[in-house]
Amino acid sequence: SSADAGSFTWQAPSNIALVKYWGKKENQIPANPSVSFTLNNCKTITTLEYKRKDKVSDDFDFEVFFEGEKKDDFKPKIKTFFKRIEQYCPFLKEYQFIVRSENTFPHSSGIASSASGMSALALCVMSLEKEISGEVSEDQFNKKASFLARLGSGSACRSVTGSPVVWGAHPKIEGSSDLFGTEYPGKLHKVFEDYQDTILLVDKGEKKVSSTLGHNLMHDHPFAEARFTQANANLEKLIPVFESGDLEKFIEITESEALSLHAMMMSSTPYFILMKPNTLEIINKIWEFREKTGLPVSFTLDAGANVHVLYPERDKSAILDFIKNELVVYCQNGHYICDLVGKGAKKL
Ligand code: PMV
Repeated sequence: SSADAGSFTWQAPSNIALVKYWGKKENQIPANPSVSFTLNNCKTITTLEYKRKDKVSDDFDFEVFFEGEKKDDFKPKIKTFFKRIEQYCPFLKEYQFIVRSENTFPHSSGIASSASGMSALALCVMSLEKEISGEVSEDQFNKKASFLARLGSGSACRSVTGSPVVWGAHPKIEGSSDLFGTEYPGKLHKVFEDYQDTILLVDKGEKKVSSTLGHNLMHDHPFAEARFTQANANLEKLIPVFESGDLEKFIEITESEALSLHAMMMSSTPYFILMKPNTLEIINKIWEFREKTGLPVSFTLDAGANVHVLYPERDKSAILDFIKNELVVYCQNGHYICDLVGKGAKKL
């Protein structure tokens, strides 16, 4: 039967947080709620080939190929993922798997592929579960896929559905949960439906400090409680902004979030700095340009030196000119990626 052998392919997007997740409890439970835009162009495409084994063995049985080549160094991360999700997907050890994955964005771009990658793999596992156990509603399917993706990499749970996606329980956001990401349920102004994100690749190198380590440093961070309170407050402040499309407030909240994230890194023990001089050059240029033109262009950052330049579609031509003329010089080899808000993962 089709549950004995076959394959599933999913493409899952990356996402960029507006309110940042930084700090977690046991079992990948976030210390504060976060919200992100799902992206459209930066994606991982993963195929899961499966074959039922004659005899159930006591270990996970899988090979990993990345962009066509066997990748044994990806195996530990996937094994950890399988271990964490096994209690929710008890069929995993009954199968032999081949995981084939590729990204639409360059491999060494400093863009984390863990969100899109873990989401795509979780969705493939869910497709297999559905094959084995029959019908499940799309909502249930997405919730469990997000739940599983969270166990792979926290922010991956925000890479299943369209945008914005909230992860982490917040009293003012209905249906929000610590366990999975959900599409923002409130009113959303149409300016945010096709918001642009041009990613400036300032440093394409490997991350010097892993996000796992960074999250852990929030455990005895002197500002932890204040930071978690701030994130909750910023998420609440975004609710009327999402509805009204007030970009001045949007910028105020999201730029503050980006800088607070990095402020946590600078004030932890040990302390570290992930921004590069060019990150600051770009931020200053954006502020200068915004001041001069009044155009609603802003930045956000994730756990690295790259800058995500955010702006509405209606100002795309002027802002893209500005990016090309004034910001691209700060990118490594002039490299940048044009992305925008997208609609979530898709089965291929
Ligand atoms: O999902 P992780 O553990 O790689 O953490 C991601 C953390 C940030 O990207 C810095 C913020 C976020 O909310 O995505």
